[in-house]
Amino acid sequence: MSPTLALLLLSQVAFYTTVTSKKVCGRPPVSDGIDETILKRVYEIGEEVSLTCGQGYLPSTATTSRITCTDTGGWTQSNLACSPKMCPIPRALQPLAMGRTEAPFKSVLNFTYVMLGANESSCLHNGTWSNPPPVCKAVNCPLALPPRDGRIVHDKPITGSTTMYGQGWTYECNPPKAPSYERGSCRADGTVPDPPVCSIPTNIPNGVITFAVMRPHGYKEKVKYACNEHYVLDGQAEIQCQNTGNWSSKPVCRAPCTVGIKRGRIFYNAKKIWIADLKPNRVLHGEHVAFYCLNRADKCGYPVVSTCNDGSLPIPECFEGEFLPAG
Ligand SMILES: *[C@@H]1O[C@H](CO)[C@@H](O)[C@H](O)[C@H]1NC(C)=O
Ligand SMILES: *[C@@H]1O[C@H](CO)[C@@H](O)[C@H](O)[C@H]1NC(C)=O
Ligand SMILES: *[C@@H]1O[C@H](CO)[C@@H](O)[C@H](O)[C@H]1NC(C)=O
Ligand SMILES: *[C@@H]1O[C@H](CO)[C@@H](O)[C@H](O)[C@H]1NC(C)=O
Repeated sequence: MSPTLALLLLSQVAFYTTVTSKKVCGRPPVSDGIDETILKRVYEIGEEVSLTCGQGYLPSTATTSRITCTDTGGWTQSNLACSPKMCPIPRALQPLAMGRTEAPFKSVLNFTYVMLGANESSCLHNGTWSNPPPVCKAVNCPLALPPRDGRIVHDKPITGSTTMYGQGWTYECNPPKAPSYERGSCRADGTVPDPPVCSIPTNIPNGVITFAVMRPHGYKEKVKYACNEHYVLDGQAEIQCQNTGNWSSKPVCRAPCTVGIKRGRIFYNAKKIWIADLKPNRVLHGEHVAFYCLNRADKCGYPVVSTCNDGSLPIPECFEGEFLPAG
């Protein structure tokens, strides 16, 4: 046996013994409705847990159920079962509930009906009510039209050629277009909204647009901008279709500047150079250039900084020299 292999086997034995020397229990398995919020991930041998039913559930037994972590790392049996509390279905809705009179905890009643008739009724002098009780009417809508260049994604599968009141959907547009709004639903009057217009983000001056589009969810489209050479991007390069349906604001490409003097020295890019040596004569948006002004009394030059701002680089007033013709 080679020394390396022996060492490997030894360390495995050591690892095995440290892990097995101290047994613990994991989180006990519990049935539906038992309160899991009190449970820990790890228990010592002999540790006990009192199980109770969570909110919205009723225990099957009156006594609390205790379980114990055994020395094999398992748990003793629990005799607790929890059943969900029931909500009575309102009488007026029972005809619609297919014979059921109650529904378990966490059930949802979806009202896909609208009320027809007066919303109130008063007891009159002659012992009658002013208005008859309202009736509930099922409302169906025709299927909504998808946007041009897009589609509709329904919240739940559609059966047949109608949707029910309250049912909703999302409009999606083919990339890189984005809808002007993204949700629609079957309305109480049985109508659906008109399909939205799919909009495409426009190009920016002196820049390009790239559609490296991911489509996790319709409206979270992203579009990326870049500027032409020597232009500097100001703002977010990436814009996103927002849930208002609009795109976040587009960036702007800022123009480079020409240093508008014929003769003289400047301080640029950590160097003091003659303007004739700046080839090509171009500094980028946001870059600083220092011009040397003359202090006549002391017969010395002092630097005054100017910054290129979207194509314009002001020359300090104190600078005396020859200027390039504008434009
Ligand atoms: C009821 O409405 C809820 C919330 O809008 C929805 O999650 C659920 O799917 C609907 N159920 C049915 C049966 O329509
Ligand atoms: C009943 O309808 C009237 C008018 O349509 C409205 O002003 C009122 O708030 C409604 N009452 C209730 C209790 O919904
Ligand atoms: C009760 O009074 C209302 C309002 O005055 C009237 O419209 C209705 O016909 C009366 N009903 C009876 C049964 O008299
Ligand atoms: C979306 O953009 C349009 C046109 O630019 C504007 O009129 C509208 O107010 C914007 N909507 C939102 C929610 O920002």
